[in-house]
Amino acid sequence: MSKKVLLSGIQSSGKAHIGNYFGAMKQFVDLSETYDCFIMIADYHALHSLQNPKEMKENIINLLLDYLAVELDPKKVVLFKQSDISEHTELTWIFDTIVTMPYLMRAHAFKDAEAKNKEIDVGTFNYPVLMATDILLYSPDVVPVGADQKQHVEISRDIAEKFNRIYGETFKIPEVLIMKEVAVVPGTDGRKMSKSYGNTIPLFAEYEEIKKCVMSIVTDSSGERPENVYAIHKLLRPESELKKIYEKKAGKYKELKELLIEDLEKFIAPMRERRKNFEKDIKGALAILAEGGERAKKVASAKMAEVREKIGVNVY
Ligand code: ADP
Ligand code: TRP
Repeated sequence: MSKKVLLSGIQSSGKAHIGNYFGAMKQFVDLSETYDCFIMIADYHALHSLQNPKEMKENIINLLLDYLAVELDPKKVVLFKQSDISEHTELTWIFDTIVTMPYLMRAHAFKDAEAKNKEIDVGTFNYPVLMATDILLYSPDVVPVGADQKQHVEISRDIAEKFNRIYGETFKIPEVLIMKEVAVVPGTDGRKMSKSYGNTIPLFAEYEEIKKCVMSIVTDSSGERPENVYAIHKLLRPESELKKIYEKKAGKYKELKELLIEDLEKFIAPMRERRKNFEKDIKGALAILAEGGERAKKVASAKMAEVREKIGVNVY
């Protein structure tokens, strides 16, 4: 029997942080043992917030190196880039004709942007539809994401069901997969770790940078345990062990932070070294991406042919 299929992706919009690792990348690696995986670099999704070609290129290559450094094995995983597969944008248009504006106006990302009174571009508004095509073209059984992306996967389910109702059974309905214990990794200020909040610990940080980030963790002096330090620390050690250490060193915030720095360094150093090795052969890394693109294209174009047939534009 063939394995179940998994698809996920990350937007190539900046430097990876440990929230991306525990919330997304680590799951991709762990699950690649059990599933046939498609892992994507969502570069078109990054376009609405990044309009600088040099930076765009750098970000794509950086995310590719990140994926390789966390040991996503290209033999087990189809590693590809969204913009290599034109079917994603083609299917977006077709979905646009069945998705209503009031429905998309209920999406969190749109509501957040609206609350900030931003002049919202159509791409931001339509973001969940492009994401639905990313998913549905590959008929995955599961889509692992961080908790913040759950609604987007639900939207892709709704779109698949609606298309199937109108045109007949075409798309598999995907399940969202969220690892509960790491659902939201907190940042140095206690809010969700995110590039946009500037509260991250970069995944490939050098020792000095780790030190600086940890020392900047906001500690609340109301209790004995510095909760923001503890919340990050528990990603690196079992809680049973950690609780004892934090009880023994109650109130000693500096010592606890120093221990966290050491634990982060132990965890980051091997990945940082692997990434440096891949950096020496960018051409080789890009060849892996191009090859993954060819494999993804085969799957996407077969599904797209089925869609064209279903909607009636295939007259030849
Ligand atoms: P950011 O918020 O830093 O811009 P992205 O939106 O690019 O991060 O997220 C990439 C992936 O990492 C997504 O699957 C997202 O759910 C996951 N992720 C991002 N931040 C966190 C976090 N703090 N905790 C858990 N998962 C996260
Ligand atoms: N929107 C996702 C994020 O910001 C990235 C993404 C794009 C994605 N397409 C996807 C995730 C398809 C899972 C499946 O993290």
